[in-house]
Amino acid sequence: MSEYELLISAARQARENAHAPYSNFRVGAALRATSGRIFGGCNVENATYGLTVCAERIAIFKAISEGERGFNAISVVTDTDTLTPPCGACRQLIWEFCGDVSVILANLKGKVEVIQMKVLFPKPFDSSNL
Ligand code: THU
Repeated sequence: MSEYELLISAARQARENAHAPYSNFRVGAALRATSGRIFGGCNVENATYGLTVCAERIAIFKAISEGERGFNAISVVTDTDTLTPPCGACRQLIWEFCGDVSVILANLKGKVEVIQMKVLFPKPFDSSNL
């Protein structure tokens, strides 16, 4: 299995745990650390809606809280014909912790697109602006 396939498969698996009773939009993400470890995440919704956390941020926070600091790719999997790119808040977080990584978008039918963070998030606010 290629590195991308491995990451997509981890995101599919994480998606199985999505807690999305309000939107019914189930998302899985997986983040590959430079250590080689892969961290999965799923979206976790809340009755107050606004407290919902996206799959990508769950994966990032899991990895950061396990001591990881370097990352080289993240995948996002949904069951949609149009692949799902990370939302604005997640782009900010991915940029903060992962920089210009490859973002691998995939669906359950095997459609895959790879896009760099620099393309998804061209003019970021980050520590260089402080
Ligand atoms: N969602 C994610 O988890 N990641 C994305 O990239 C897009 C949106 C979640 C948030 C919410 O639970 C549901 O999808 C609908 O917005």
